[in-house]
Amino acid sequence: MHGHYKKFDLTNKVAVITGASEGIGRDIAICLAEAGVDIILCSRREEKLLEVKEKVEKTGRKAEIFALDIQNVSEIEGLKAFLKTKKSKVDILINNAGYAVTKPAWDVSENDWDSMIDTGFKGLFFCCQAVGSIMREQGYGKIINLSSTFSKTIMPGRSVYAGIKAGIDHLTEALALEWAPHGIRVNALAPTAVNTPSREATLQGPILEKVLSRIPLGRLATPEDLLGAVIYLSSEASDFVTGQTLFVDGGWTAGS
Ligand SMILES: NC(=O)c1ccc[n+]([C@@H]2O[C@H](COP(=O)([O-])OP(=O)(O)OC[C@H]3O[C@@H](n4cnc5c(N)ncnc54)[C@H](OP(=O)(O)O)[C@@H]3O)[C@@H](O)[C@H]2O)c1
Repeated sequence: MHGHYKKFDLTNKVAVITGASEGIGRDIAICLAEAGVDIILCSRREEKLLEVKEKVEKTGRKAEIFALDIQNVSEIEGLKAFLKTKKSKVDILINNAGYAVTKPAWDVSENDWDSMIDTGFKGLFFCCQAVGSIMREQGYGKIINLSSTFSKTIMPGRSVYAGIKAGIDHLTEALALEWAPHGIRVNALAPTAVNTPSREATLQGPILEKVLSRIPLGRLATPEDLLGAVIYLSSEASDFVTGQTLFVDGGWTAGS
């Protein structure tokens, strides 16, 4: 039983990360680079991606950026073509890009609906398909889809977002089943509220108190809280795990 921890080793792996310009995706990119992974950073804002690229390169690993709007399937096809041109393998896909509108279901507009679904669900699916097809050729790959505690539990104002995240958990199971014969493992990672720049404005006052009252461990998550799970699900240590949603939520779902 010696040396089994080596299965956590990610040296010389290659990861594609969507939503890598800020928040959770940015921190995952830097963490994986520190673990020895070369990174392809994707999101819409090239200037922000360049900042993250610099941070990744400081770890000694390679970073490339590919600016795209994942609401457009043709741009996702562009990412696939870019990866093919590079002739680079892809070991890991982190499907992290997401967009959330918090408002009562009564007030959700068609535009809110389309933006959330096209980014968080349609975009995620077609990233799985595009990058997954490269993994299929390799016969191996790890896909991690960002879900949320709202896939299983709910708070007012999050109807569409919760529906998307529940869909992601089930889609993860469906893809895990279809793609297991190709060596592709598909799992979801479901955090509770994470204090990222985009959430700072919402996570204040009574909402913050309400959220904290549902987290038995008594605090919000930080992006760092997710990194152990990302390393595990990205590495050979989790090779017999597929179709699962791993909750990193300070006990939120257990207590709900
Ligand atoms: N923060 C939380 O409390 C929390 C809790 C549970 C789950 N999550 C999930 O974790 C993921 C990241 O959350 P976060 O808080 O880090 O988000 P965030 O800070 O708002 O960052 C979202 C990222 O997605 C990218 N993005 C948004 N729309 C895009 C589009 N159309 N095309 C390409 N990229 C796009 C953004 O980059 P550009 O603007 O440069 O495109 C940004 O890098 C999301 O899936 C979210 O649902 C978050």
